Amino acid sequence: MSEPLPHLAFESHEHSLKNKVILVTGAGDGIGKQAAISYAQCGATVILLGRTTSKLEAVYDHIVSEGLTQPSIVPLDHEGATSTHYKGLADTIGEEYGRLDGILLNASVLGALCPFEEIKESEFDQVMQINVKAQVLMLQALLPLLREAQTSSVVFTTSSVGRVGRAFWGAYSMSKFATEGMMQILADEHKNKAIRFNCINPGATRTQMRAKAYPGEDANTLKTPSQIMPTYVYLMSDVSRGVSGESLDCQPK
Ligand SMILES: NC(=O)c1ccc[n+]([C@@H]2O[C@H](COP(=O)([O-])OP(=O)(O)OC[C@H]3O[C@@H](n4cnc5c(N)ncnc54)[C@H](OP(=O)(O)O)[C@@H]3O)[C@@H](O)[C@H]2O)c1
Repeated sequence: MSEPLPHLAFESHEHSLKNKVILVTGAGDGIGKQAAISYAQCGATVILLGRTTSKLEAVYDHIVSEGLTQPSIVPLDHEGATSTHYKGLADTIGEEYGRLDGILLNASVLGALCPFEEIKESEFDQVMQINVKAQVLMLQALLPLLREAQTSSVVFTTSSVGRVGRAFWGAYSMSKFATEGMMQILADEHKNKAIRFNCINPGATRTQMRAKAYPGEDANTLKTPSQIMPTYVYLMSDVSRGVSGESLDCQPK
């Protein structure tokens, strides 16, 4: 029998991410919410970024109620944010923590699922702005802080439709292809450096985005965000040092 893949077999504990400062985008709901809580449970100081402050506050309260390291909250909407906002974010993180050990680029929108010819220009722009351009601008601002860390990890979120195109997945699918490309470019630019870049494909996971994409599906048949966390913690932990340019599946077929 073959050995299980290291990211699937990874067993985290309360010190797996000790002393690490990790930014999570889309930390108010779904997979990002669970990742923020799991990172805090593994000892990290988590920066919770998202567009709905009340959701971020609920995650903050959850983390504090477990007696974990106090997180910080950054309310920010990727749709309207410009490079100036991301530079401001970098300045704030720099003043507060002096470095960044990891970033989980998780926030995304699905947009409309429709035939290619029916993709509206405004919807295409919105999906590309949130899923792609925001990540470019954020990383340009934050890379200097990620280089300040002894070893740091940038984790992008992809999808199976970011590897093989699928009918009617239009702008979302194209945005995930772009995400895979961005990860590969950065990994290649940082070969043999202390900073690593990888993608995670969560696979079908019980969240609001999945329910929107598959309204008729029985959500109880799907993995929960907490069940796919080993890969998320593995890529942030020092165990994955040296792993870069990979696109890992939480639920390989
Ligand atoms: N669930 C799946 O089956 C699945 C499969 C493959 C890939 N993925 C990927 O996994 C990641 C997480 O998805 P999910 O299923 O957890 O989705 P979700 O439940 O819809 O959560 C997405 C998060 O992103 C935030 N967000 C959306 N637009 C934003 C914006 N303009 N600015 C800041 N934050 C924004 C949302 O904030 P609000 O809560 O305030 O709206 C929410 O917290 C995404 O990248 C998705 O493409 C998911």
